[in-house]
Amino acid sequence: MYRATIKGLGYYVPENIVTNDDLAKRMDTNDAWIQERTGIQERRHIKKGDGNSTSIMGVKAAKIALERAELTTKDIDMIVFATLSPDMYFPGGGVQIQDMLDMNTVPALDVRNQCSGFVYAISVADQYIKTGMYKNILVIGSENHSGGLDFSTRGRNVSVIFGDGAGAAVVSRSDDEDSGILSTHLHSEGKHKDELALQGPSTEHWVPEIIEENPQEDIPYYPYMNGQFVFKHAIVRFSEVIKEGLDANGLNVSDIDMLIPHQANLRISQFIQQKMKLSDDQVFNNIQKYGNTTAASIPIALTEAWEAGKIKKGDLVVLAAFGSGFTWGSVIIRW
Ligand code: ACO
Repeated sequence: MYRATIKGLGYYVPENIVTNDDLAKRMDTNDAWIQERTGIQERRHIKKGDGNSTSIMGVKAAKIALERAELTTKDIDMIVFATLSPDMYFPGGGVQIQDMLDMNTVPALDVRNQCSGFVYAISVADQYIKTGMYKNILVIGSENHSGGLDFSTRGRNVSVIFGDGAGAAVVSRSDDEDSGILSTHLHSEGKHKDELALQGPSTEHWVPEIIEENPQEDIPYYPYMNGQFVFKHAIVRFSEVIKEGLDANGLNVSDIDMLIPHQANLRISQFIQQKMKLSDDQVFNNIQKYGNTTAASIPIALTEAWEAGKIKKGDLVVLAAFGSGFTWGSVIIRW
């Protein structure tokens, strides 16, 4: 068995900053409500004509990660691309990235696990590296939420939360026995699939059917979220799966140097921090600036924390996510 390690990190967010006050011009909401419930102050949205898309943002993040890993696209053996907001229904965004980065005909695998997408993607990469099949894998999470949200008052409970952006990691085989990805832990519970979902357009809800059958108030081609239900499950599953990862490695909560939780909602992160008795130094949050960027949130936060010098060689870094599905997972890394 080989050990996998994160060799390079990068992120990209669109330049266009959208504040809570900007949103209040489009729907009945206000800065106080959004900050109090979610902690979010602003987020980035792709602007028409700025040249961005889900896969293009992924490419921008990937280029930075590759440079930091001191590798070229020709060194990459596989792409694992996580998103819930692809540019196209099919094919997946991974092949667009393979093309834009002018890569060899390497496999491009799309992962559809929403807010847990990056954790699932890292786990997939880890398995391929461990078995010795591949040496360098590009793992990307990218989302263009603003392209598909309801910015009328009807969609306000969802649309104020989400933002656009991308993050990437180069996961590589390592000879260092003492560092790298120690373990990954994944879960799902599909019985809650409807509590946070975008139902169509899909084969079950095709466009003419949607228009015919749904009154304006209940359009299934915008995301639906049962916010309080999601909140209650998130706080339980986050702490469970972090604990599961620590136990698997004979570690304790006090061993964590940096927890990077999926940036779902600042209140969720704070609740987990309190429940697990973690200090402010042990948890990194940046949802205040970017909103919830789903599959991109962990790699963006991980990169920012690393850039700020908050993650050092030898640190125990824990990634944890929970989201639509429901799906959840954790990654335990010795940096
Ligand atoms: N601005 C102003 N008022 C709003 C807004 C808004 N953007 N959205 C909803 N409201 C109103 C509602 O209409 C409702 O009004 P009413 O009482 O007159 O009916 C009132 O605020 C309360 O609505 P709730 O939905 O009960 O608000 P709640 O306190 O539950 O907060 C929130 C909503 C923030 C979504 C909360 O449920 C939550 O944090 N849930 C966790 C889900 C989450 O964070 N998901 C993130 C994405 S999923 C993930 O990444 C795992």
